Parts: sequence; C-alpha cells; structure tokens
Amino acid sequence: MRGIVLAGGTGSRMWPATLAISKQLIPVYDRPMIYYSICMHLMSGIRDILIISTPQDTPRFQQLLGDGSRWGISFSYAVQPEPQGVAEAFVIGSEFVGNHSSSLALGDNIFYGRGLRSLLQKASALDKGAKVLACPVDNPGQYGVVVLDKDGVVREIEEKPDIPRSDYAIPGLYFYDSTVCEKARSINCSSRGEWEITALNRIYLDEGRLSVEILEDNVAWVDAGTPEALLDASRLVERIDRHSGAKLCCPEEICWELGYIDSMQLETLAGQLRKSRYGRYLLALLHDTCAET
Ligand code: DAU
Repeated sequence: MRGIVLAGGTGSRMWPATLAISKQLIPVYDRPMIYYSICMHLMSGIRDILIISTPQDTPRFQQLLGDGSRWGISFSYAVQPEPQGVAEAFVIGSEFVGNHSSSLALGDNIFYGRGLRSLLQKASALDKGAKVLACPVDNPGQYGVVVLDKDGVVREIEEKPDIPRSDYAIPGLYFYDSTVCEKARSINCSSRGEWEITALNRIYLDEGRLSVEILEDNVAWVDAGTPEALLDASRLVERIDRHSGAKLCCPEEICWELGYIDSMQLETLAGQLRKSRYGRYLLALLHDTCAET
C-alpha cells in the first residue's frame, strides 16, 4: 500500500499564524503537525509516502523530511498549485500510486489511542473497495458525515450538510483500492469549486464498495485545523507524553521499532536533536533497551 499526506491548503482558519508558513509545519506540542499523519501511514505498515503541498511550502517539507532514508523509508513530493480539493490528491498522486492500493491522511488530523495500531493494520489490509472511519461528534455539520443503518452498513455520505442526518463525522484518513485515481479523475467539482473527497467516496458507495470502521472509545480523533483545536491538541499530546512516558506519534521511534533503522542509526538521529527534550527521549529509548538486556 502507498501513503499520501495532503499538507497544502491556505490554512485560512489559522491566519495570521499561517500566512508565511504551512499549518502542517506548526508544532503540535513539540513536533511538527505533519509527523502525526506520517505516523498513521507508518503504523499501517506503509513505507512509501508522498507529501503533497503548496508550491511555496513543498521545499520546506523537503528540508524537514528529506528523502526519508534516515528513517529507513521513502518520501516523494508533489505540488498542488491551488487548493482545489482533497480528492485532487489522487489526480496529482496517480503516478505515485500506480496500481497499488493507497491511504490518504490529511495533514491536520491526529489520531491516538490504544486500539489505533490494530485499527490501522486492519484498514490497510484492504485490497477491494474503500474504507472510511466514523467518529461521533457534537458538530457533524462541519465535516463529511456518514449515515449508517442498524447493521453498520453505509447508507449515505454528505459533505458538511446544513442538517446532518447522523452524528458520525468522517475523519481525514481514508483507504482505497487501486481504482481510486481513475475514480478521482471522473468526479466533477462541487458548488464551492473543489474536488470533494466525499464525491470520491460516494462513487464507492454507489458501487456498494464503501465500508466504515467506527472509532471506539480506545481510538480518538482531533482535527487540529483551528487555533483552539491546535491548542487543545498540544495540551493533550503534552499530557499523554508526560503521563505515559511514551511519545505519541514519534516517527523515529516507530521506524526503529519496525526495524527500518537500527540502534546506531537511531543514536545518530537522537544525537542531532540532543539539545531538545525530543532528542533526549530518543536517546533514552536506546538506554532503556540496554538496561533491559
Ligand atoms: O478533517 C476531516 C474533514 O476534512 C472531513 O470530514 C471532510 O469530509 C473533508 O472535506 C475535510 O474537511 P475540512 O474542511 O476539514 O478540509 P480542509 O479544507 O480543512 O482541508 C483538510 C486538509 O487538507 C488540510 O490539512 C488542508 C489540506 N488541503 C485541503 C484542500 C481543500 C490541501 O492540501 N489541499 C486542498 O485543496
């Protein structure tokens, strides 16, 4: 499976903070927001990741992440000239996706919880159809909304409906089979001029091939796209880091655990960051391992 992180857009809900820098480069607590989306792909077992961003921000993501080799993975980059909609990711990324199944993570969505890894591994095993997530929220009208029947079968999906017919929002993490790029090319722009992800998902729904995974109590979701949500997310991540002693969404740690990099490589990465608490956390991972053996 291939992974795409969509990290463009105007960030207008965060202006002026995002006038000169991409929202997804702003930290959530002590690491860039995009790390959280990258980690969704890593935890799904995906090592080939395409980052799509604006013409001005793509070089900054390249500067931050490089080609991925220092984490034992691969990053490619593509530019979205204008923010024409989430589903355009599969038009821009069609060569990268090729005939693979793929997953799309929106760069401002954060997931956490004990059940996350198993949910991601299950979702990324998909090879036919599409899978979206569903999460009960207080304000469904601000999101894509999914209507389910009593057996959990998807009946309808709508983008930001004025009168939502369900409390289930669709978070920004999607899983598709290899036909997704062809389907994305066939959709029409919405009244607000965007290639809506909901229009793409509706094609799968009309084919009877859209399934849904409901987020249970052991997986939580935050859309960190507003200043208030970003602050809440930072506080939450800080609290989890501090109380559990383990970092949520630390790509170096995940790549090391998965064997993509060895302890010497992790030590080098940690050394480069040693002046920060984050770097010292990476070093402590190695020392804890030594102490255990
Ligand atoms: O957060 C989940 C929601 O994300 C879904 O429930 C909605 O169905 C989906 O349309 C989307 O809604 P948002 O209003 O939150 O989308 P937003 O415009 O904030 O964009 C989401 C991310 O994708 C954000 O990081 C910016 C990026 N983006 C967005 C667009 C429209 C791009 O990189 N390019 C784009 O053209």
